[in-house]
Amino acid sequence: MPSGAFRFHCIGCGALSHAPAQDFRCSQCGNLLEITDPSWRSGKLCAADLKSVWHQRRSSNLPLDLSGVWRFRELLPAPQSERHVITLREGNTPLYELPRSSHSTGVRRLFAKHQGMNPTGSFKDAGMTVASTFAKQAGYSWVACASTGNTSASMAAYAARGGLRSLVLVPEGKISWSKLSQALDYGALTCQLRTDFDGCLRLLQELVRRAPVYQLNSINPFRLEGQKTLAFELLEQLDWHPPDHIIVPGGNLGNSSAIGKALLEMRDIGLIPGLPKLSVIQAEGANALVRTLREAGGKHLVSVEAETRATAIRIGNPASWQKAVNVIQATGGAGEQVSELEIAQAKAEIGAEGIGCEPASAVTLAGLRKLLQHGFVKPDETVVLVLTGNLLKDPDFTMEFHRGDLFRGTAHEPASAMLSPFRHPPIILDATLDAVLKALDQAEKTNSINSNV
Ligand code: F0G
Repeated sequence: MPSGAFRFHCIGCGALSHAPAQDFRCSQCGNLLEITDPSWRSGKLCAADLKSVWHQRRSSNLPLDLSGVWRFRELLPAPQSERHVITLREGNTPLYELPRSSHSTGVRRLFAKHQGMNPTGSFKDAGMTVASTFAKQAGYSWVACASTGNTSASMAAYAARGGLRSLVLVPEGKISWSKLSQALDYGALTCQLRTDFDGCLRLLQELVRRAPVYQLNSINPFRLEGQKTLAFELLEQLDWHPPDHIIVPGGNLGNSSAIGKALLEMRDIGLIPGLPKLSVIQAEGANALVRTLREAGGKHLVSVEAETRATAIRIGNPASWQKAVNVIQATGGAGEQVSELEIAQAKAEIGAEGIGCEPASAVTLAGLRKLLQHGFVKPDETVVLVLTGNLLKDPDFTMEFHRGDLFRGTAHEPASAMLSPFRHPPIILDATLDAVLKALDQAEKTNSINSNV
């Protein structure tokens, strides 16, 4: 594995450095860093050779080739030795067709790239394999993150695999039990702080300046390098024909930034002939990026007090907002917001495809509907939704939705009646054949309603 010629490039003042400060901010202007490598742009890489070598590695059993991230290592920062690499065979996620949603939206070629099929159930694993590898190489014994749940689950798993200790800072009462339980099982020191995600991240930034811990939030540019591979793998699955649109949820805005970076690099190297439009969808109650684009023309961050049941994206002060604005503008994409009811409906629809996802991922389908209404997406275009987390990540949301309790006592309660055709509540019956036959008969009648949804 050739050891890297990569550098850290400040997105604000353009300064280049070999080694970043512990908070991963530019030592001159305080802005975020991104990783660049001259060989990714200079024509040193031949697109046809890359496609062929990446394809060949799919039949290899070497640990690095079995990873859907490291398989694309020519476009990743190279660690000093393969021995440092911490991998759980991440990536390799499926690209599904969505026939029911295709029918209901009118978009004929509609796909879901399901990052929830990663080892810990979210897209975070693709970034974590790279960033945890560099933490280990740098000789740290502690890694740390602030999280709405998925980052902490992923970090804890990779730390455990790599023999590192992990510190998790999460907002008390605002992350799903499922994600919290993962961090516990993987052995993290888990602190539930009486604040929100933004408060946890602020504290972490102070902590890394005081203590020798390596931060694994998406401010860490190694994370974004790993998350680029989602786009490489997606394009490979589409035989290198770029879709017209890629639609992704937005929280702290690391993932959209990573996907956008990958698209631009692929275009520069000649792996794809043109750029898909990258659009980012947020919950109405956590719409900092949408407001930043609409009210400030993308020039400064408009932060918000975040509130949404899609807790993964309950973020009001996204760290990577500027990177996200840059890639949305470079690809000609859009920022859009969707309501709590629209998220709940879209999640049920993705569930009814036999796929499922967590609430934050469902903003993509709800956002697609909005973008179609505005004429930004056309029915004859090819659209890929990025599903970021697994259905099993937030069972409380799913149960409350199907029982009809999700919006009880909230301002959305009256309007939520329109969601009843999408609900499949459990029924409690006497243990008799008669009772089950009656239930079957009843379901036959209501099913005809559901199939029209
Ligand atoms: N979808 C899911 C399931 C997430 O967990 C997150 C972020 C996002 C979308 C948004 O991605 O932050 O890169 O814009 N989760 C982080 C966490 C914040 O701590 O797990 P983003």
